[in-house]
Amino acid sequence: MGSYCFLVLALCVAQTLCVTIESVPGVDGNGVILTELETTVSLVCRSNRSEGEGAELVWLRNGARVALREGNRKGQSAVCVMPVIHQDNGATFTCRLSSNATVEASATLNVTYPPMLSGSDDVWVEDDSPLVLHCDTFANPPVSSVRWTLNDSALDLLAGGFSVTDDGFASRLSADKAERSKHEGLYRCIADSPVYGIKSRDFLVTVTEKTLKFPLMPIIAGGVVVCLTVLLAIVSRWKKIIKCCK
Ligand SMILES: *[C@@H]1O[C@H](CO)[C@@H](O)[C@H](O)[C@H]1NC(C)=O
Ligand SMILES: *[C@@H]1O[C@H](CO)[C@@H](O)[C@H](O)[C@H]1NC(C)=O
Ligand SMILES: *[C@@H]1O[C@H](CO)[C@@H](O)[C@H](O)[C@H]1NC(C)=O
Repeated sequence: MGSYCFLVLALCVAQTLCVTIESVPGVDGNGVILTELETTVSLVCRSNRSEGEGAELVWLRNGARVALREGNRKGQSAVCVMPVIHQDNGATFTCRLSSNATVEASATLNVTYPPMLSGSDDVWVEDDSPLVLHCDTFANPPVSSVRWTLNDSALDLLAGGFSVTDDGFASRLSADKAERSKHEGLYRCIADSPVYGIKSRDFLVTVTEKTLKFPLMPIIAGGVVVCLTVLLAIVSRWKKIIKCCK
């Protein structure tokens, strides 16, 4: 687990009614809890009013009530996010008094994760067919750059007839017609994350000979005709057999 840093969000002046949130990992000055996927975030809310009157607490996640057990509501209340998932990024946890909704404190999760890039893919593409490679670059914070190499040198877009598109989630490299001399080789997609550094994924592309495509429909139609004929033959045969038995 990360550092055990506790930081009190709102400063309570002795007499006024207030709630505070403490968390592991800690909350920064902007009310943001920096965390990573698959980890645990624990939040504790406290009211400065002692046991008894009106110190019942309520937790909300993005405005929706979090179900709390009995005994986890009075004076102090703890919630846990375990494990932290992608959807928790940007989620705001608010603790408030159930008797007075204006008395509240909030913290927002910033869930960082690297682009899921590693390993190697074998890709076969037929001669003359489109070559398309996908590189998943989705990350928080967003990657600062994505580039492609072929056989360890920068990709020559013009010479290879390549186009590269990037929508912030993935980078897509494509060429309309694969040619062995131009397109076979080791492709690498390299993404640079400001937090996680360089991540890359390899694609070993092999351009194969064109195969003859079988005309599928006529075969299926032919198969149906054969089946029907056989069935009809059996049916008419059956009548004869039944007749014989009488
Ligand atoms: C709710 O709390 C605020 C801040 O302490 C206070 O000004 C307000 O009067 C309270 N409202 C009620 C209905 O108690
Ligand atoms: C989340 O944390 C990362 C890493 O510190 C930072 O780059 C990014 O700006 C933060 N995002 C938000 C929304 O605070
Ligand atoms: C990349 O390297 C492989 C193996 O050395 C070679 O067969 C292929 O032709 C090269 N690709 C290009 C486009 O130069």
